[in-house]
Amino acid sequence: MSSELETPSEGVDESEKRGYEEPEWKNHAKQTDLSELLKDGTKESHDRAENTQFVKDFLKGHIKKDLFKLATTALYFTYSALEEEMDRNKSHPAFAPLYFPTELHRKEALTKDMEYFFGEDWREKVKCSEATQHYVDRIHYVGQHEPELLVAHAYTRYMGDLSGGQVLKKVAQRMLKLPSTGEGTQFYLFENIDNAQQFKQFYRARMNALDLDLKIKEKIVEEANKAFEYNMQIFNELDKAGSLLAKESQDGELPIHDGKGDVRKCPYYAAQQGKGGSHPSPTTSDRVGHLGPLIPWCLLLALPLQVPMRVVLAPSKMSWSY
Ligand code: HEM
Repeated sequence: MSSELETPSEGVDESEKRGYEEPEWKNHAKQTDLSELLKDGTKESHDRAENTQFVKDFLKGHIKKDLFKLATTALYFTYSALEEEMDRNKSHPAFAPLYFPTELHRKEALTKDMEYFFGEDWREKVKCSEATQHYVDRIHYVGQHEPELLVAHAYTRYMGDLSGGQVLKKVAQRMLKLPSTGEGTQFYLFENIDNAQQFKQFYRARMNALDLDLKIKEKIVEEANKAFEYNMQIFNELDKAGSLLAKESQDGELPIHDGKGDVRKCPYYAAQQGKGGSHPSPTTSDRVGHLGPLIPWCLLLALPLQVPMRVVLAPSKMSWSY
């Protein structure tokens, strides 16, 4: 299966190299298998995630490029955190058998996508959104304090990416007119996995072989549901950003927050207010370093550094994935 199988990731032994095939006896799922508990225990969350507005719109091809860029940004921060914690725990017995950097890790691919969308200086142009930051914080907490739950986060993301990624990639390429050579959609390409279905089977068997008691397995399922929830929060945030961008482009103008524009139209502004947080009107003398609490992250992305308070969104075209 993987072209890397001659030099597989750490932890793949000789008997497993041939196409990640599992021995016959491992194909009989048990109710207490972690893979079964996870699949059953997150079914409802999966249904809800599939039915979020953002995901439904994406599948229908209602995608605009600016929103896709925001989604890619969210993925970049998420996978950076996840893979940092997986690297940290690569020798931990509750995670080591699931450590497949060559096959699974996405940060490098996402870095290429970010460069493609935002240019070489992309790091100075993007910011982690509020919902993404919550997810990132949880991943770091788990990696550092409860590493036996890290499998829940790896499962939720990578198994999902391996399941629906190809469809989403095609939708994005078609609707955003992205090159079929893969620029901007590297995230969806697992070039070291030839057969996603087989790899998922192999990964499930690895999860089932972890030495965990039922109580911990239940905590892992609970954590996976939290991971779904964090993902849905990001989808909802993206959906709001998408509505804002769509509305602004319908109005036929570029949205400008220059202290005169109506910052209350922004969902992030509303969320701040709802929390009782102060969100004063921006002033023209503010510079980007001070804008964090003043300007929503979605608008910040398009803000050229060192330019006084004038936020211009690129003429619309945007959207997303999972
Ligand atoms: C676009 C909407 C989605 C569709 C159409 C979709 C579709 C699917 C399908 C068909 C499978 C079964 C694959 C198999 O058994 O081999 C699957 C599995 C999975 N999906 Fe999704 N999915 C969607 C959204 C999501 C989201 C948003 C997440 C999480 C962020 C997610 C996470 C997962 C996981 C973890 C699995 C593995 C389940 C298991 O076998 O234990 N999916 N998905």
